Amino acid sequence: MRILAFETTCDETSAAVLEGGRLRSNEVFSQVSLHRKYSGVVPELASRAHLEKIPFVIGGALARAGLRAPLKRGAFDAVAFSRGPGLPGALMVGRVAAEAAAELAGAPLVGVNHLEGHLLACEFAGGRACEPLEFPLVALLVSGGHTELWHARGYGDYRVLGRTRDDAAGEAFDKVAKLLGLPYPGGPEVEKAAARARGKVPAFPRPHMPGTRDFSFSGLKTAVSYYLADRLGQDFYKRGLRLPPGDRARVCRAFQDAVTETLVKKTADTARSLGLSRIAVGGGVSANGALRAAFARLQGFEVRFSERAYCSDNAAMVALCALRRLQAGKYRNNLRVAPGLADPGW
Ligand code: KG4
Ligand code: ZN
Repeated sequence: MRILAFETTCDETSAAVLEGGRLRSNEVFSQVSLHRKYSGVVPELASRAHLEKIPFVIGGALARAGLRAPLKRGAFDAVAFSRGPGLPGALMVGRVAAEAAAELAGAPLVGVNHLEGHLLACEFAGGRACEPLEFPLVALLVSGGHTELWHARGYGDYRVLGRTRDDAAGEAFDKVAKLLGLPYPGGPEVEKAAARARGKVPAFPRPHMPGTRDFSFSGLKTAVSYYLADRLGQDFYKRGLRLPPGDRARVCRAFQDAVTETLVKKTADTARSLGLSRIAVGGGVSANGALRAAFARLQGFEVRFSERAYCSDNAAMVALCALRRLQAGKYRNNLRVAPGLADPGW
């Protein structure tokens, strides 16, 4: 089975070809340099950049897979795209590209959930979808826009058990990085700085939200902001005042520890309460080495991560969702709606 897939939920424009469970291509154009000066993703700029880049990304994905545009009928068995969650304008670009490709190839269109993509990305090893997940499991999905705990009972059979009530974990990394004067995206920058921390680190709260499976990271971000205001003055950010590198590293370390500990504890408690020993972690934040190490230290659980290359947004994971759904015989082959009608699958 040969699948063409698109991913355009946020600031990565990506197209992939998956054939017989093997990735023939996975082209990713990152818009990071475009958004960096705003310290975050600007939705309107993101949609325009997707529109501008997608023809090249598709061309690249086809060429690397040994295929050529224009697509011929029968070139693909399915065309997949991330139908959400994501930025509406950005999603539209991937959807329209997928609809056009599906029309040309005469192939069914499969709209997949972006977060399911992050979960199934754990199945890739060396460019092959050869490490199937074993269900049931608890999934922790941690990205720039989402932080969710799922009870995954099988492919396509998911129940959301908890989610963040305010900032997503990745968003908290990005915002704390901004307060500290580190560039966007903040996650990898905070991780790098944290690795340089020496000596005693500040004490930040662990937002455990007792009695729920939800998360909350905005209080932790505020705690970092108060800590900086105490040291540098109330208007530190406006005046461009920053901590010296040693202190900054210790703040990064303390913040990263607080996020990590919270994510690991909540996930493990949830798995225990359901009597499950399998955990899978996906999304951009799952690239974090401290988070991976903390999960690896958990006793009594089998914890899966995706290879780092598939942690951030990519179309390979979208293709894999479509493959698993087609194998299960469960997909909607026409997501188009009449003009003016609300789309239930959006
Ligand atoms: O899944 P993703 O690529 O895009 C979304 O679906 O949002 O996640 C991007 C997020 C950003 O907030 C970024 O700062 C964070 O993942 N991230 C990290 C690391 N690498 C990326 N957070 C912590 N540590 C990292 N190494
Ligand atoms: Zn994502």
